[in-house]
Amino acid sequence: MKKVLVAGGCGFIGSNISIFLKKKKYKVYSLDNLSRIGSSLNLRRLKKSKIRNYKIDIQDTKKILKLPKFDIILDCCALVEADVKKENIKKVFSVNFFGTNNLLMKCIQDKSKIIFFSTSRVYSIKAIYNLLFNKKNLGKKIIIKKKYLINEKFDMNTPLSYYGLSKKFSEELIKEYSYSFGIKYIINRFGVISGPWQFGKVEQGFLSLWIWKHLTKRKLFYKGFGGKGFQVRDILHIDDVCQIIYLQIKKINKINNQIFNIGGGINNSIDLKSLTNLSQNITKNKINIKSLKSTNMSDIPIYISNNKKINEYYKWKPKKKIKEIVVDVFKWQMKNLNSLKKFMK
Ligand SMILES: NC(=O)c1ccc[n+]([C@@H]2O[C@H](COP(=O)([O-])OP(=O)(O)OC[C@H]3O[C@@H](n4cnc5c(N)ncnc54)[C@H](O)[C@@H]3O)[C@@H](O)[C@H]2O)c1
Repeated sequence: MKKVLVAGGCGFIGSNISIFLKKKKYKVYSLDNLSRIGSSLNLRRLKKSKIRNYKIDIQDTKKILKLPKFDIILDCCALVEADVKKENIKKVFSVNFFGTNNLLMKCIQDKSKIIFFSTSRVYSIKAIYNLLFNKKNLGKKIIIKKKYLINEKFDMNTPLSYYGLSKKFSEELIKEYSYSFGIKYIINRFGVISGPWQFGKVEQGFLSLWIWKHLTKRKLFYKGFGGKGFQVRDILHIDDVCQIIYLQIKKINKINNQIFNIGGGINNSIDLKSLTNLSQNITKNKINIKSLKSTNMSDIPIYISNNKKINEYYKWKPKKKIKEIVVDVFKWQMKNLNSLKKFMK
């Protein structure tokens, strides 16, 4: 397994994985139209590592089929926003779903394999609520329990958010192509991932955003679920993601056509209020965080990955703890303060 195409290679995840795999002596190529804020900075990092980016829109079937042959494609190209405005719904499906379709057509042409970066948002919003609450618990601090961990068999019925639905459709498409054309695949449903080179915004990359707002003393809000910052997520360091993808590529002839939940897990779960405390300790800045009580329809109060299956297959566990993740992001932001001011609000 030598030649890898990373779709979305100038994004947060794609760029870090591309550089990691290059160091492991893979021949790495990126496909990215540089539409995401900050992707031009990541392109510079790829160039330094002598990784070529094909500046192509993932919706462009013809250009994708004209690319050279690859052994494996990593699909980490997507419009990543849980709360999609109604005028953008079509675009999200066009990029996320038909983009995956184009990569699958390329897989048929090249007889290559695919690893798909899916999301925890393929799981039912209602079922996640039901896991936790009767309504009177809304807005109270969540005491994290093992029974809240979500495994691969969890309810996937709508509502999921349009983003989640587009990723669920892509998953189904991959399985269909695998059935018809024998394409080997792995689908990874990730919880929240963070680390250096994540240009955090409200819709995506909240940990990076949280630290940035503390560092630069800007406005922040606790939004939804009573506006107290009690929503919980599990956080996974990008270095741990690189490690598991490396293992998956190495073993793909033996372990394939599987779906995995992968995340920080119970030990790396945190609510926003606690993240505020950590951010204050590390940046030494305190900011006033306001409360917005209304809850977005597509938001969820908690998500924690059950890593049992991924651990059984690869003996993999997340190594970096929350505090290390926060410190790593903080150090990266301090080091690049001036250039980041152009990209992060
Ligand atoms: N970051 C997370 O916490 C997280 C969690 C779960 C799943 N994922 C999945 O991982 C993948 C990567 O996420 P990320 O955080 O790196 O996102 P990102 O936004 O940083 O990267 C996505 C990249 O895709 C590119 N792109 C977007 N539209 C394109 C198009 N039409 N043609 C070509 N390139 C295009 C962007 O320029 C960007 O560089 C996504 O598929 C996402 O669904 C991310």
